[in-house]
Amino acid sequence: MESKKTILELNKVSMHFGGLTAVDELSLDVKEGEIVGLIGPNGAGKTTVFNCVTQFYKEYTGDIYFQNHDGDQVDLRDYKVTDIAKLGLIRTFQNVELVKDLSILDNLLIGAHHHYETGIIQHILHTKKARSEEKRMKEKAYEILKFLKIYEIKDFYVAGQPYGILKKIEIARTLMSDPKLIILDEPAAGLNDQETDELETLIHQIRENYHTTILLIEHDMGFVMNICDRVCAINFGKFLAMDIPKNIQKNPSVQEAYLGKDE
Ligand SMILES: Nc1ncnc2c1ncn2[C@@H]1O[C@H](COP(=O)(O)OP(=O)(O)OP(=O)(O)O)[C@@H](O)[C@H]1O
Ligand SMILES: [Mg+2]
Repeated sequence: MESKKTILELNKVSMHFGGLTAVDELSLDVKEGEIVGLIGPNGAGKTTVFNCVTQFYKEYTGDIYFQNHDGDQVDLRDYKVTDIAKLGLIRTFQNVELVKDLSILDNLLIGAHHHYETGIIQHILHTKKARSEEKRMKEKAYEILKFLKIYEIKDFYVAGQPYGILKKIEIARTLMSDPKLIILDEPAAGLNDQETDELETLIHQIRENYHTTILLIEHDMGFVMNICDRVCAINFGKFLAMDIPKNIQKNPSVQEAYLGKDE
């Protein structure tokens, strides 16, 4: 089997909140094109790992490397949280974060601004170039909305949409940024069985159609086992195991971590 490039690498990453060690010398890697699951009981440190990767927290120790658009490994610490998306690293949040009093379409368009080649002045002056760029972004948004089967409702407000739709809008927004790596924090949380099945298919389609890599946190073990190529299990911020789903399920230390937990 051809060995794939590492797109994300964590090397002994630790993160403390006062006296609490939320992430403890965690090392893991994600290869190009993989779907990787990060699992662990409540409070295991999963979201904190994502917040370190996306540079929302900068106080971590250890190193986090990412493969940029040119194929070079960069140290994410050198980038501001606001510049991470430009590298092609895009996230969604555990609690859906959308602008509720804008339309679904506008939620996609506001996310795309760092992709504009024209400056703010050109947009204010409404130059020809700015107009053509807006058109291009709109067409891109339409294509994504069609792919996610929410094109028909694109002009509706986000407020009042069911949870399953909100999750799709979040995913749609990540696709606007030409992601190399999408990281999803509990994408299946709050979804019913049918929506969860649909999301499984969707995540596979995203990987195929948009040539992305996906790293996700999820409590729904069925979902994780069905869609992930590899799973990394952590507990108390510490690495337990990283393996194919079948082996993770059988792993004694993973079983122990979940014992007595209502997962
Ligand atoms: N901003 C913060 N300040 C202080 N402690 C925090 C902060 N964020 C997380 N923690 C603590 O760090 C630990 C890891 O939290 P984290 O949210 O990363 O866990 P998680 O694995 O995402 O949990 P869940 O499955 O419940 O989402 C927990 O003990 C949590 O209380
Ligand atoms: Mg979390």
